[in-house]
Amino acid sequence: MKKLLLLFFALVFSLTAIFAQSGTLEKPMIQKSLYGKLKDGKEVYEYRLKNSKGAEVNIITYGATVVSLNMPDKNGKYADIVLGWDNLQGYVNGTTYFGAIVGRYANRIGKAEITLNGKTYKLSANEGENLLHGGKAGFNSVVWDAEPLTLKEGASLKLTYVSPDGDQGFPGAMTVHVTYTLTNNNELEIRYEATTTKETVVNLSHHSYFNLSGDPHNTILNELLKINANSFTPIDKEFIPTGKIEKVAGTPLDFRKPAAIGSRINDDFEQLKFAHGGYDFNYVLNNYNGKVREAADVYDPSTGRYMQVFTDQPGIQFYSGNFLDGTQIGKDGIAYQKHTGLCLEAQHYPDSPHEPKWPPVILKPGQVYRQTTIYKFSTK
Ligand code: BGC
Repeated sequence: MKKLLLLFFALVFSLTAIFAQSGTLEKPMIQKSLYGKLKDGKEVYEYRLKNSKGAEVNIITYGATVVSLNMPDKNGKYADIVLGWDNLQGYVNGTTYFGAIVGRYANRIGKAEITLNGKTYKLSANEGENLLHGGKAGFNSVVWDAEPLTLKEGASLKLTYVSPDGDQGFPGAMTVHVTYTLTNNNELEIRYEATTTKETVVNLSHHSYFNLSGDPHNTILNELLKINANSFTPIDKEFIPTGKIEKVAGTPLDFRKPAAIGSRINDDFEQLKFAHGGYDFNYVLNNYNGKVREAADVYDPSTGRYMQVFTDQPGIQFYSGNFLDGTQIGKDGIAYQKHTGLCLEAQHYPDSPHEPKWPPVILKPGQVYRQTTIYKFSTK
């Protein structure tokens, strides 16, 4: 009898242990909900992707935008590490591109004009005479179709947008797919694909503003940044590249070794002034050969959060949130001060259509534009 009783308790104990364990082993998960409606009645959906570790990303179909990203600190405490607005209206009215996919041409095209095969196309100018992030109605401000996918790597969302011929002045109808995957290894992987019906230009990027402290009352000035780039493309007063490629050595733009973002940000250096008091530069990444390699990393000493950026792109725009000025009231009613977030936008160099010696941005019918960028999160 005693033996039977012991056996019974042993069985109950082991079953409880098994269930308790399987309770903590979560499956990747995707949930869809209505996020809001645009003025014309169009519905915008939010997809919540969760991985097996408990990390989470929320993406809305407006602008294929990452509205929140929850990652753990060194004590396992989760926090949202990207800036954003509280609701759809914020994303519609905002001019910061929080979390969005930017295109057809990320960053700037001088004089908002391109010439292809002798024909000049006037594009939508939205920053003085120049084009920024695709023009007045870029990919950040359209509603994408979304298809959730459960891949072996994790939860995934494939977003599709068909940009009509002539959209923002660009030739060719362009079909774009952007697939976000939140891997079970705490990576946010972004894969881009685009095709066109006529010869055109393309340069797509992702515009999250990261604040690894998880508390946007803090700036990013104490975070340590490293960029694997020996040179950058200097800009003029209008942020348009001069066409030169200059070495970062001996300048406050040198992040070849990890350095606190705030350590030289106020140095008396003309480029920092042109960039509205801070960093807003395209870095010419080392070892460009079309393959994915490590481009940059950021470490927040206060929380131990560590982000690595991998990409197959030739450049990366490091922007230190210089235009945030406390008038942007973001999630939870927090006013974002200057330097509250940082962007690391993997891309082709700005204004490449005017710089024939730079890696080309032309896409022809029958070709497929592809891009992969991975933001990997861990702690140290
Ligand atoms: C640009 C900044 C611009 C910002 C818009 C960045 O990619 O480089 O100059 O102000 O986007 O929020």
